[in-house]
Amino acid sequence: MKILLIFAMEEEAKKTVEHFGFEQENLSTPLPYSLFKKNILGNIVYLSSLGIDPRFKVNSVGTVPAALTTYDLLDKKNFDLVINPGTAGGFQRRGGEIGDIYLPTKVLFHHREIPMGPYEPYGLGTYTPYDLSLLRGKLKFKEGVFSTSDSLTCRDHEIDFFNINSVVVKEMEAAAISYVCEQFNKPYLGVKSITDIVDGGRVTAEEFMENLDTASKNLQEFLEKLLNHFLGQES
Ligand code: ADE
Repeated sequence: MKILLIFAMEEEAKKTVEHFGFEQENLSTPLPYSLFKKNILGNIVYLSSLGIDPRFKVNSVGTVPAALTTYDLLDKKNFDLVINPGTAGGFQRRGGEIGDIYLPTKVLFHHREIPMGPYEPYGLGTYTPYDLSLLRGKLKFKEGVFSTSDSLTCRDHEIDFFNINSVVVKEMEAAAISYVCEQFNKPYLGVKSITDIVDGGRVTAEEFMENLDTASKNLQEFLEKLLNHFLGQES
């Protein structure tokens, strides 16, 4: 089995890279993403983070780098499964807490509003991720609807969208990666660890920075169990 783990930020990926002993691989690409490889029981696992933007010197977060990186890697290497671990905002009114691990039942875009007949559902996306019935009972996680936009912040009208669509995870890459996976007919599985509570009243950026380390640790621990599941090892 050949798996791709695609993270947005180096900080989110660091603990997983170190824990498994992934080794850097060089690939010819104009994109800034980094790539690591690890052979686990005859299975090839690649790990990528979107990389440092050469001009702004920050992680290349968001939908455009996520889609381009996923496209480039799926085009160059034929993965059986794309796992997208990362951090996200959760919702206290739907039971979300800092450090929770969520997997998606459905993936939407919440910033693509095109009220023009069939363009409306196109904007929303509504991607179908990896079938969670294959993981329930084997691993401990929360689940629900993920929604993506290019903003860390949340505008008032977006709260209505999140309530109407029962969104449990607000983040910045899942729908873009899902879109590319759909074009390649490859399964997408998001794994998001909660760093901040969208409806909790805190300043998102502050709460995010406070909880990034804990959330990344939870992510690494869950990914170990998830990879053991897919690669047939006991955890
Ligand atoms: N990543 C972590 N927290 C987030 C939030 N509240 N919105 C979007 N992306 C996030």
